[in-house]
This record gives sequence, structure tokens and C-alpha cells, in this order.
Amino acid sequence: MNVCAWIVTMIVICIIVYIIALLLVDCDLSLAWATKVGKPIDTLCGKVVWITGASSGIGEHIALAFARGGAKLVLSARRLNELERVQSNCLRIGKNLTERDVLVMPMDVTAVDQMEFHFQQVLEHFGKLDILVNNAGRSQRAEWEDIELGVDREMFDLNVFGVVALSRIAVRYFQRKSEGHIVVTSSLAGVKAVPFSGSYTGAKHAIHGYFDALRIEKLASNIAVTLLCPGPVHSNFLAESFTDRAGEKFGQAVEATDRRMTAERCGYLCAVAIANKLEEAWMALFPIIPLYYIFVYYPNITSLFVHYLGARFFLKMRDTKVRKEMRTV
Ligand SMILES: NC(=O)c1ccc[n+]([C@@H]2O[C@H](COP(=O)([O-])OP(=O)(O)OC[C@H]3O[C@@H](n4cnc5c(N)ncnc54)[C@H](OP(=O)(O)O)[C@@H]3O)[C@@H](O)[C@H]2O)c1
Repeated sequence: MNVCAWIVTMIVICIIVYIIALLLVDCDLSLAWATKVGKPIDTLCGKVVWITGASSGIGEHIALAFARGGAKLVLSARRLNELERVQSNCLRIGKNLTERDVLVMPMDVTAVDQMEFHFQQVLEHFGKLDILVNNAGRSQRAEWEDIELGVDREMFDLNVFGVVALSRIAVRYFQRKSEGHIVVTSSLAGVKAVPFSGSYTGAKHAIHGYFDALRIEKLASNIAVTLLCPGPVHSNFLAESFTDRAGEKFGQAVEATDRRMTAERCGYLCAVAIANKLEEAWMALFPIIPLYYIFVYYPNITSLFVHYLGARFFLKMRDTKVRKEMRTV
């Protein structure tokens, strides 16, 4: 075989391996690699990790994954009883954790004037903070043109301004400490727009803008930024979702049979992404990961997909079935 034929054969083999890998994984290839040969989660043993939205779903399972690895935790959300439940589970499975190592800190992330106070409480308790995981957030189901501006404001107060405000306090502290790690739970909706979640897509795209900018400014420092981008995951998120009306919740539960990643698997993958300081990590069940590779790297093909399959097809892929009809449909 001449050299040219050998090179072409190797390229074809690489492409086939790449496509097969994309069909098998439930996360992007860098994260899949990190789960096999990257730093294990217990390299964060003894680090202080503050997780917002830790009372349920993805945040709860990020906390459990870190507790297994021996990290010290600050658990924040509004529901004290749920935080205490997560705290006792962390202590039960935690590697050498005592009660003092898992701090429950009830907090509403939209109350930005209280954040400095909460931050000082964390420092007083642990003497330091190593990683801030901004996970609290709510999704949305609504037709774009029906959304009241008040919903956009509520969405941004929770999913953007609360995150930016707390992260600014943390980054100023990390700057003084000369190291630290900011993590935000974004969404695949922050990577490429999804239908029937206009304000949510806007908010998660804003997160990518803010935190990609932060990463670039801190490239020369020891301050890392990780954006976690889950696809559909089993949690309370659908019932809690914003609609098109201010103050309203979508109110419908995800069903056990829905095709979504478990919050446990998602929490584990998020913890691996954080331990390996990945810049951006995607996680979702087949066929969403290979589709996202196509959407991001071949945007013209995406337009064809959307044109021929229709927006409702994509909503069905997210929610398994279209539940309550949105108002004007
Ligand atoms: N599930 C999915 O399919 C999915 C997909 C992509 C991205 N995400 C993202 O993942 C993150 C977690 O969502 P999840 O799916 O785990 O849903 P979840 O089970 O409803 O968890 C949301 C968490 O946010 C907290 N929270 C909500 N409003 C808050 C506020 N004002 N102040 C403080 N905490 C607040 C909730 O706690 P309290 O109610 O106790 O305050 C809860 O702990 C969100 O940022 C979401 O956008 C989820």
C-alpha cells in the first residue's frame, strides 16, 4: 500500500471511530474521555464546594457525587427541609465527612443584596471557598410571541443576574486568593436554541456570553470557568418551569417513563467535568449528543432538520410527549 492510500485509510478509520463513539456516548467526547482517564472526583477531597439549587434534581446529585469524593459542601436553595434531607444523605455516603463539613445555607438567589452576607458566612464557617457551582434555575414552556415581559425579567433575575451577582463576589475573592473555580449549570439550550422556551434560551445564551468573557479575562490566572450543559434530565424542572405569564408555573410533572437522563448520572458527569476543569460539558441521552455535534458544527444542516421535521418534533425530543398545550397552539 502506498503512503497516500495508507493516509486515506487512516483518515477513514478515524472518521468511523469518531462516528461510532458519538453514537455510544451520553456526553461530549472530552467529558467521555475524562470519565475514563481524567482526574477522579476524589481529587477534590477536602475542597470547599458551594452548590446553589442543591435541594433537588441535578444540584442534589452533584452534591452527592462530591460528598462521595470527600469534598466539603455548602448546600443552598430556598427549601430548608429538602436541603436538610440532602445534607443527611451526603453525610451518610460521604467519605470521612462530619456534620461540620456539610453546611446548609438557605438562600434565594434572586435576593442579590443578601449575597455578600451569605458569602461571608461561608468563609466564617470553612475559612475558604474553592468552587462555586451556580446550579439554581428554572426552565420554561411557552410560545415566543405570548411571553409577557415580566416573565423575561423573572427568568433573567433567577437564571442570569443572580448567577452573575454571586459569581462576581466569588471571583473578587478568588482573585485575592489567586485561585478558584466558577461553575454554572447552563443547558444545551444555551449552546443551540430550543423551541418553546424563548426567555430560557435567551437566559442560558446570556450565561455563555458572560462566562465565556470571564474565562477569557482570567486565562492567564488560576481561575477556571466551567459551563455544564445538560439536555433532558429527570427532575422537578418541568413542574417548576416558567410559562408565558408572570408568576405562573407550568405545573406538570416529568413521568418516570420519559426518555431523560437520570439526575444521578447527570450529577456524576457534572462532577467529573468540574474535577477536570472542562470549559464546557454536554450531557444527554442518544440521539441528542450526535445531533448537537451536527447542530453546532454544521448549522446549515440544522436549518434543514428544523424545516422538515418542525419545531414540535424538537419539543417532543425534549419532553417525550407534548403535554399541556401552550396557550395559542
Ligand atoms: N432538568 C433538565 O432537563 C435540565 C436541562 C438543562 C439544564 N437544566 C438546568 O439545571 C439546573 C437545575 O435544574 P433541575 O433540572 O435540577 O431542576 P430542579 O430539580 O427543579 O432544581 C432546581 C433547583 O433550583 C433551586 N431554586 C429555584 N429557584 C431558586 C431561587 N429563587 N433561589 C434559590 N434556589 C432556587 C430549587 O430549590 P428551591 O425550590 O428549594 O429553592 C432547586 O434546588 C437549572 O439551572 C436548569 O436550568 C436542567
